[in-house]
Amino acid sequence: MARLRVLVTAPIPGEALSRLRESFRVDLNRSGRKLSSREMRRRIARAHGLLCLPSDRIDRTILAAGPHLKGIANCAVGTDNIDLTEAERRGIIVTNTPGVLTAATADLTWALILAVTRRLVEGDRLVRKGRFAGWSPTLLLGRSLEGKVLGVIGMGRIGRAVAARASAFGMRVAYFSRTPLAREDERKLRWRRLPLRKLLSVADVITLHLPSTPETRRLIGPTQLSLMKKGSFLINTSRGDIVDEPALIASLRSGRLAAAGLDVYAREPRIPRALLRMEKTVLLPHIGSATLETRIAMASLAATNLIALLEGRHPPHRVR
Ligand code: DGY
Repeated sequence: MARLRVLVTAPIPGEALSRLRESFRVDLNRSGRKLSSREMRRRIARAHGLLCLPSDRIDRTILAAGPHLKGIANCAVGTDNIDLTEAERRGIIVTNTPGVLTAATADLTWALILAVTRRLVEGDRLVRKGRFAGWSPTLLLGRSLEGKVLGVIGMGRIGRAVAARASAFGMRVAYFSRTPLAREDERKLRWRRLPLRKLLSVADVITLHLPSTPETRRLIGPTQLSLMKKGSFLINTSRGDIVDEPALIASLRSGRLAAAGLDVYAREPRIPRALLRMEKTVLLPHIGSATLETRIAMASLAATNLIALLEGRHPPHRVR
């Protein structure tokens, strides 16, 4: 019997590819360069399975070009890059890779919190420019975290992992989430659930951990930013379109926000020039999950999902 075909849109680390090759004919985009919509449509035409990345936009035109497609394994936890409704309509199973990237993303969130509150990148730039003239009592004063409030928006796996790290820095945790934690956990952990408006007005650092959905897009807009404490910080390692970028820029310019640490942007890989020009931003290239261990685990889980669904078994992480 002819082997099923799988399109893999970029080289992935670890043994995921060789596992896929044991069972399927693999069409790998060796170049790693993002496939254009046209190339994707051409290559998906014969594929039964697709292993893709969060940067691949799998819209209805791509789905329509894959008449044999049975399943998609997104190598990410977020699936906002895929038209899920259209996939479901076509009977295409979609899977993701939750869990394995929680710690890496939570760690990177803290790297950004520390980077913006302690002005690490400004310091690095100053040193490299040869402007370090010795210890000074007023050089690059940042803000302390101890005793301050960390406001976590979205209390899924990653939100919880970020909150769990707060006690190491002496921060108190308040959160906003549609689904409350169990009362027992709230009491034990001393994490306080607040309405969004209240949370924005009391937190010193706000960190976002939400998927991008029609309900969450631009959740943080001009009104929400105006409610944030003067001199507070905003961190986003989830999805860029949860924040209204022009409103964020205005808020940084006005001084309401002291600084922002961003790993994600509304129209990646494009980043508004105003954000690039500001000293008050620390900007990363969507590397929340980018540790070798985590990326190997993500690729492996994506392959496991794809193998299971193409073999007619229930994949471990089915989204739709
Ligand atoms: C995800 O998994 O959704 C991340 O954004 C990619 O690391």
